[in-house]
Amino acid sequence: MSSSAARRFSHLSDSELIGLIRGYHEAHVRDLEAAATLARRVEDRHAGSPHFPAGLADLLARMAESVGSHQHREEAVLFPIILSGEGAMLRQPIAALGTEHDDLQDGLERLVRLTRDYTPPAEACASWRKLYELCRKYDEEFREHVQLEERILFPRFL
Ligand SMILES: [Fe+2]
Ligand SMILES: [Fe+2]
Repeated sequence: MSSSAARRFSHLSDSELIGLIRGYHEAHVRDLEAAATLARRVEDRHAGSPHFPAGLADLLARMAESVGSHQHREEAVLFPIILSGEGAMLRQPIAALGTEHDDLQDGLERLVRLTRDYTPPAEACASWRKLYELCRKYDEEFREHVQLEERILFPRFL
């Protein structure tokens, strides 16, 4: 999301933003779990292929878990405090969540490198291509979601 795209959402209320963010949360867990399952299948089918990235399925499974637990902290702790109007006490939790964003971005950068920027080799089967499309979708949406939090929602409480 560019800064002008981020500005498009800056007029939304806290609760409207949180509704939008919850939609990203659901999609991320769904997409990462589907991608991990698909990656296992493709990995089994192409066992021994020099091109299928070693460790991709494990990375996706770890990402599904860490993204899920980060999001759970936002939904169980942060969002209820924001919605209750007690946002003044949020400086510290927001800093911690920002550090988690950095860690999650590191995982994403590993995914970009492992998949060569989501570029399947010429011999890739349909499932392999679908897997990379799913990873690319997650990549775009995750970056949008973090921008919504870091550029619009969180600064309201800092
Ligand atoms: Fe979030
Ligand atoms: Fe977040």
